[in-house]
Formats: sequence, structure tokens, C-alpha cells
Amino acid sequence: MNAKADPKNRLNDLNSKLWLQFQKSWFALSSPEPPVDEFISFFSKKNYPDGHTGTVCLVPASLTVHIQKSVLTQRTVLQIDALSKDQKLDYAFYDARFLADNTENIVLWQKTIEELRLLATALRELAYLTVVVRNQRNAHATDPVAWRLARHISAFLTQKDEKIGCLENQSSEQQIPWVPNDSIVYFLNFRKQNSATDDLRSTPAFATPKQAVEGEPGYAAKNFRDGWYVHRPPRRDKNVMLHPAKFPEDLVQRYITNFTEPGEWVFDPMAGTGSSLVAALACSRKAAGIELNPEFVKIAKSRFTVKKYLKLVTGDAAAPESYHPLPEQMAYCITSPPYWDMLRMRGAETQAKRKKQGLQRWYSEDARDLGNIADYHAFLDLLERVYRQVAGHLLPGRYMTIIVKNVKKQGTIYPLAWDIVERLSAFLIFAGEQFWCQDDQRLAPFGYRYAWVSNTFHHYCLTFRKPEGSFSHK
Ligand SMILES: C[S@@+](CC[C@H](N)C(=O)[O-])C[C@H]1O[C@@H](n2cnc3c(N)ncnc32)[C@H](O)[C@@H]1O
Repeated sequence: MNAKADPKNRLNDLNSKLWLQFQKSWFALSSPEPPVDEFISFFSKKNYPDGHTGTVCLVPASLTVHIQKSVLTQRTVLQIDALSKDQKLDYAFYDARFLADNTENIVLWQKTIEELRLLATALRELAYLTVVVRNQRNAHATDPVAWRLARHISAFLTQKDEKIGCLENQSSEQQIPWVPNDSIVYFLNFRKQNSATDDLRSTPAFATPKQAVEGEPGYAAKNFRDGWYVHRPPRRDKNVMLHPAKFPEDLVQRYITNFTEPGEWVFDPMAGTGSSLVAALACSRKAAGIELNPEFVKIAKSRFTVKKYLKLVTGDAAAPESYHPLPEQMAYCITSPPYWDMLRMRGAETQAKRKKQGLQRWYSEDARDLGNIADYHAFLDLLERVYRQVAGHLLPGRYMTIIVKNVKKQGTIYPLAWDIVERLSAFLIFAGEQFWCQDDQRLAPFGYRYAWVSNTFHHYCLTFRKPEGSFSHK
């Protein structure tokens, strides 16, 4: 590797160009074997200023087979069984993909967590652990094994940004019920930190998500099942620039055509400037929505010439009365929530630019606006209330897709996407996640010389199915 050592670089021996390349939050995986050497090169040095040689532990030890000799010979590689009480590690890499095939094996889970604890104890202060893990797809639903494991590890290490490995999507045949392709491998990064453990993550449980019931096939969705895809949105029209965060209509159309038939009702409870409604009408579906901010409703309405199949309410999506003017039952919901209060935190530069251009920097000043709630738990409570309302208005056996990102606030990761799945799994079946990956954004050298801070260019598209049996949305 052509890396001229930067003496100020505390984390690794990479130059800024190589550092930058690694920071993209997703990458194409050409084989199922994880690129361990790239991780070792990013998360450890050959030699440290105090004179010790970089020391890493790989589990299982057989991972060394896939590593370039140049990376291996420059470091001390230890096996987990050989770790003594006083051994210090600069980096650890753990392959836990086997858990996806052993979701019910509590003994194996416990052994895995014990081993991960052992590695955490051996890590030096501020050193990293990477865990490779997959979610489990079965014939009816997805069990978020990766995120459940992350919860456990977060009890003793601090979770940092994830990187997702994208395997080639298999050719997509129709599957009923619908679940996405199994083409994602999670590389979850954790850091050993002195700081107090984040209270959100400190009480792990071996929670098993709501199981899909066999013999409940649901609606026969089409075959858009790619676990990930790259989508480059076209430039935004001037009239919708006012809105700080909208999703692209052409992307939404893929989902709408996958999950509905012409003439059916598509719903967005947080319609913004109406992207999902525009997309629905463009594919001959009917469009219903709720939006809190009257200014966005006005913009959304101005985008329709024919309003016969449009019902858009100005109101609070958490309040049952907002749904009264809408059709009783929807065939599909596609939506995106405020990413907590992140717009109020967004980079000063971006916000200053939007202010100068006379554009809105956040959604509204309304206290009911979910983007204005500073407490994360209170925000999640309210979001759950909205989605319970939505689920109550969804036809049984039909689907809802939520586009969202995990958020990072002042260096702490709040796994919003995972938390939504955890909460909604109490009343909906989690069909699975797909990733909208972006490759048209410029990389920024966040954390250069010190820490792993990714450029997050993947969005979670979480799809749920409403069970056909009894359902209470209260
Ligand atoms: C991420 S944006 C949705 C953008 C939309 N998908 C688009 O493409 O234009 C979230 C929207 O939720 C709205 N919102 C926030 N709290 C709300 C609430 N309680 N009820 C209804 N809408 C709300 C915001 O005004 C904002 O427009």
C-alpha cells in the first residue's frame, strides 16, 4: 500500500487519500469473504510511538488466510485463546455471521458475547472492534440479528458508524410474502471509551421480534427485492427547494409499483412537499397525505393539476382526527420522518447557506413537529404513535416503507432505523431492509488522523407488513 506515513496520524498509517476512500459508508463486496486487511490497515498502525508493534486479534483465526502478507507480517496477530490477562490489543475483528443461522441458539449467543467482552477488555483505550454480522431472512420476515447483537455489544463498547458491504443481488423472483434479497453484510464498528455508557444501549435483552405467522401470505408484491441499489436523484425543482429534506419521486415510484395496483390508495403521513403523492399519481394510483406545515401543503398542492385522486390534510399525523377526511383504508404507505431534531444540528455551513438563500432550515416552529423534539425517547414515542395510526389505516396483508437513516449527534450514534424496527415489531411484521446507496456525494475527511467517522451515504428503506389477524393500533 502506497501510504507515506503521516507522523500526526494516531490511528493508522494511511495517507489522506486512502483514508478518504475507506470512509464511504457502503462498498461493493465482490466475494463473501470480508476485506479484513482493509479494516486492519484502517484501524491499526504497524508501529506505535511508544515503540510497540501493532497487535490485532482476528476471530476466527482462519481469517488470516484472506489477508495480504504485507499487512500480516507488519503486525502481531494473536488468537483469542492465546490472549493473556495483561495482553493489550490495538484492534480486533470478529466474524459473527454464523449467528444469522443460529438465531435461537442462546448458548451460542452467550459464548459470542463472552468472546466479544474478552476482546473489549483487551483493547487499548480508544481502540476499535469490528464485528461482521448479517440479518437473517426467512421465508416470511427478517430477524434483525445484526442490530440485536449491536445492542449487546453497546453495553460494554461505544458504537460508532457502521459500514455496509453489498453483495451482488441475486436474480429476483417473486416471493410471497415479500422479503428483500439477502445481499447485505454489516461491518459494525465499536470503540473502547472511558466515557459513561450511553443509557439508551445499556440494557440489552435477548428480545425476539414478532414472528410472522405461516399461512399469512399477504399481498403479492412484485419482485423489486434488491437488498441495495444505487440511485442518483435528478436535480430538485426550484419550488420544492424550500423543503429541507425530500425524497426523490422516481425512487418512490419503484416502491409504489412494487407494492400496489393501479387505482389503489397510497399514503404518506408526513407528506412534506408531496413527493410520494406526486409519485403515486404518476403511476396511476390515488394519493393521500397529512402534513403539519401549511406552507409545505401549499407547495404540494401546487404540484397537482388534477386533484380528483388527491386527498391532502393539513394536520398532525399523531392525532386520530387528522385521518377522518381520508379514505378508511390504504393499500400502501411510503414515508420518511424527521431524522429526530438533526436539522437543528446540521452543519453550520449548510444551514448558513440555506438561510442566505431564504430557504427553510428546519420544518417548522410547531411544538407538534417531530423535528422539534429534543428528547430522543419522547421523539420515538411520538413517532411510534404516528405509525400506529398509519397501521390502523392500512389494509391487512399490505405494506409500509419508511425511509430513514441512523443518526449521529455530537459523536453519539442513535440507531433510529433500528429503533423504529424494534418499536414497530410489536404490531407489524418486519419484512426487511433495503439500502438506497448514494455514489454522487463528495467524501469529506471527517476524523482524519484520529477516529473513524463515516460519510453516511446509505439510507435504510424499512418495509413492514400488516398482519392479517387481529390488530390493535391503540
Ligand atoms: C423528511 S420530511 C418528509 C419529506 C417528504 N417525504 C418529501 O419528500 O417532501 C418530514 C416531514 O414531516 C413533517 N412533520 C413533522 N411532524 C409532523 C407531524 N406531527 N404531523 C405531520 N407531519 C409532520 C415535516 O413538516 C416534514 O415535512
